Amino acid sequence: MCGIIGYTGIEEAGDMIVDALEILEYRGYDSAGIALCRTDGSVRIRKCAGRVKDLRSLCQREDIRGTCGIGHTRWATHGGVSDGNAHPHQYGKVTLVHNGIIENYRDLVRKYDLQERLQSQTDSEVAAAVLDHFYNGDPFAAIRKAVLKLKGTFALSILFEDFPGIVFAVRNVSPIVIGNVRGGSMLASDVTVLGQYTREYFVLPEFHVAVLKKDGVELYDMSGEATEPEWLTVDWDVDRSGKGGYPFYMEKEIMEQPKVIADTVRPRICGGIPDFTIDGIPDSLLADCRRICVVACGTAMHAGLVGKALMQSFVRIHMDVELASEFMYTDGIVDEETLVIAISQSGETIDTLEAVKYARKHGAKTLAIVNVRGASVALASDYVIYTNAGPEIAVASTKAYTTQLAALYLLTGRMAYVRGSFGEKEAKAFAAELMRVPEAMRQVLDRREEIHYIARSILNAKDVFMMGRGLDYSILLEGSLKLKEISYIHSEAYASGELKHGTIALITEDTPVVAVVTQSRLQSKEFSNIKEVQSRGAGVILFMKETFGMDKESSWNSVFKLPAMEDGFMVMPASAALQLLAYYVSLDKGLDVDKPRNLAKVVTVE
Ligand code: F6R
Repeated sequence: MCGIIGYTGIEEAGDMIVDALEILEYRGYDSAGIALCRTDGSVRIRKCAGRVKDLRSLCQREDIRGTCGIGHTRWATHGGVSDGNAHPHQYGKVTLVHNGIIENYRDLVRKYDLQERLQSQTDSEVAAAVLDHFYNGDPFAAIRKAVLKLKGTFALSILFEDFPGIVFAVRNVSPIVIGNVRGGSMLASDVTVLGQYTREYFVLPEFHVAVLKKDGVELYDMSGEATEPEWLTVDWDVDRSGKGGYPFYMEKEIMEQPKVIADTVRPRICGGIPDFTIDGIPDSLLADCRRICVVACGTAMHAGLVGKALMQSFVRIHMDVELASEFMYTDGIVDEETLVIAISQSGETIDTLEAVKYARKHGAKTLAIVNVRGASVALASDYVIYTNAGPEIAVASTKAYTTQLAALYLLTGRMAYVRGSFGEKEAKAFAAELMRVPEAMRQVLDRREEIHYIARSILNAKDVFMMGRGLDYSILLEGSLKLKEISYIHSEAYASGELKHGTIALITEDTPVVAVVTQSRLQSKEFSNIKEVQSRGAGVILFMKETFGMDKESSWNSVFKLPAMEDGFMVMPASAALQLLAYYVSLDKGLDVDKPRNLAKVVTVE
């Protein structure tokens, strides 16, 4: 989850590293730190609890200089949020920053008798101490011996006092990307930051050692053999011209959706039919499986639930959606006839990654839907569909979610076609409706001030319930997550028919209810369920397909009419409306919309 950075070159490293940490801050933002190495090898550290801006002020007050250094922005796991627990950690001649978790750190402390000299409560400092324990002048030997002792996940960026101007890196699971930059070389925990400095990069292979020097990067396997990196190109727009005039990245990213959905869909429509030729996905993968199983977390899992509803109704194939974090521990059932679809914006979510490995071990074919190129989940899967959402900086996912939905629509369309549920005519009609999604989304976004007005009515709510049926229920699960994560209002989504099996007991006149009604065949049932909560005093905010007749007997707190599409596609405009609702509540509460408390964008710990 934490963000790490390393640079060596001819430029002054301090400002560069702090700037890079600002971009990386979405990976964790409870503390930050930097270590710079002077030409005599001595290392100076500045670190503090708080945001990168606090680190910047600290560095301005207590200037340190150097052309080689490492930096870190933290999401606390072991050890609370404090100056002392912030990275970098220094032990003897070793200074490092760490992303991941060293699971056996307590055993290591005992085994190497480290307790006395440890300054922090972190597992990361223990990694530094173990490296120092094995260090006798040869960094490579120390790294090789130490990593054999570390259990868990780690991306380590390391300075050795006797090797000024060199940054060493090694990893297991947690990602590191590396590139040559102007006047030197750089590593980072993701391409969002590295892409600001270079278009060419490689993913550090697990259990390999990278040696970053002013004049380039060397890569070695664990036996010390030099190996050639596999170079990749950053192919998304990493121009960080900022928030595009919006107060928060989240609003910018919501507004980008028509474009990025079109970018995801268009290259995958051939002759009017969904087609995965550009992804190298053979039709046999879609035609031959007996069932589908999605593994994902959070918002990505919610995308999977929409996918399940689509697949089951259009393709009539059995599909399960599993929380990746539970999948292995509930002995998930997959076999050679299962297509496992892993959905992940970052492609680094550890649970999703482990679920993919488990699925492959059990013989399943794996297909990843990932936004970040070259990410671990993509590399671990047999096939990958990259969504073209571009960098998503706000912690709360919006455009990544709807482009995941777009990919799932495409898959549904192609699968229905190759398995014979759709003839050519139906496949073309399906694709044509999908191509209309960006315009329908745009219409919702153009009316965002109406949703802003509606949002004001729930600013002070303690709880907000959401209700819907079928596809509407699937997207409300996501709408409710969005609201709680950025507004801190407790919110739950319920399948409308379920409320009276218990939860309706919580409905009072102080409980606003958000209802989404977009499915023709469920319309009248929905309105009956809404009446049930209205009779218990709840004020209802209704998001409804514009062509549906209004229930005149009910009085609504607010009504927002969604542009009409075929029922199966209504989730797209409705999702945009729910994202805006959550966004405006958070904005008007004066919260840090892009960096909600306790969260981080990339979840690389279990
Ligand atoms: C919520 C959100 C998270 C992520 C989840 C999985 O807005 O973004 O729930 O969806 O942490 O992350 P990825 O998609 O990177 O695997």
